[in-house]
Amino acid sequence: MTVDAATTILGIETSCDETAASVVVGGHLVRSSVVSSQVDIHARFGGVVPEIASRAHVDLLTPVIAEALVEAGVDGPDLQAVAATVGPGLVGALLVGVSTAKALALVWGVPFVAVNHLEAHLYAALVEDPSLELPLVVLLVSGGHTMLVHMEDHGRYRLLGSTIDDAAGEAFDKVGRFLGLGYPGGPAIDRISMEGDPTSIAFPRAMYHEGLDFSFSGLKTAVVNHVRKHPEAATADVAASFQEAVVDVLVAKARRAAQQVGAKGLVLGGGVAANSLLRERFLSACVEDGIHGFLPSRSMCTDNAAMVAAAAWWTLEANGGSPLDTGADPNLRLPLLAD
Ligand code: KG4
Ligand code: ZN
Repeated sequence: MTVDAATTILGIETSCDETAASVVVGGHLVRSSVVSSQVDIHARFGGVVPEIASRAHVDLLTPVIAEALVEAGVDGPDLQAVAATVGPGLVGALLVGVSTAKALALVWGVPFVAVNHLEAHLYAALVEDPSLELPLVVLLVSGGHTMLVHMEDHGRYRLLGSTIDDAAGEAFDKVGRFLGLGYPGGPAIDRISMEGDPTSIAFPRAMYHEGLDFSFSGLKTAVVNHVRKHPEAATADVAASFQEAVVDVLVAKARRAAQQVGAKGLVLGGGVAANSLLRERFLSACVEDGIHGFLPSRSMCTDNAAMVAAAAWWTLEANGGSPLDTGADPNLRLPLLAD
């Protein structure tokens, strides 16, 4: 099949706690992007409960897809492919999206496209700024991953650095829970930090001067130890100092990575890229270093299906549709180039 600027793809995302569907034309023209968050359902448990997430996807996915089609003004026969995230993520949650996408592809007689969730996050910036040129360095910071990826070309990725323990989002969520800020911790810490003094506590910046890998578990322990020793410390000051330490390391390593590979562009992706301080520091660093920096909008950084449909366009162009026996893979990794 020919894949061109008119190729219209329905994307489906159900890897964690967001049920999302989107119609994207030509890999970047977003005709609709519907996201139904289950955050309120899971908040009282302090984290995502996999079985509850799967059941909620079953209830929500059909109306979310219907809304995405209506908003885009298209019907099944107008589509050239149906794509879904096949991993990584929660297996039961993934299966809901994957089975639905395959069924719709069969009914409409179009290819099914299997999408890697991490690859979809890499494409988020390219959806919003098609003028971005590859190669790019992407700082991908989510609840499950913290990686610096050199996106040499479409489908050609090299891992420059990653976390050796907790992901950045995981650190935000664990510290948020410890500080009694509820779930998810990232947005709560972002909010409360605006009232705190980020210089009040000098938390450690692990591996700051060493290479491009990250480590956040020591920082989380340092926060716990500090609060136990100084119970009088204001929560806003602790949160702001913690956030400052995370952002310092993320920005320093992203800059170093861009310099190391001589990248022309540096972009952010993943849920933590919605963080206000990270966004501000990231842009100032890009201006200082004279590099093309791009920040996807907050809604494009967190889980959504527009990035899935966009990544699917490139996959369809390069490899065609995926076999219908492609299963959900909770441990799927980003396909990397060998050294
Ligand atoms: O990419 P995402 O929506 O889901 C995963 O694939 O993991 O990322 C979710 C993560 C959570 O850890 C959440 O706390 C974090 O992104 N997050 C934030 C902010 N908004 C979401 N972290 C810091 N500041 C924020 N404003
Ligand atoms: Zn994600």
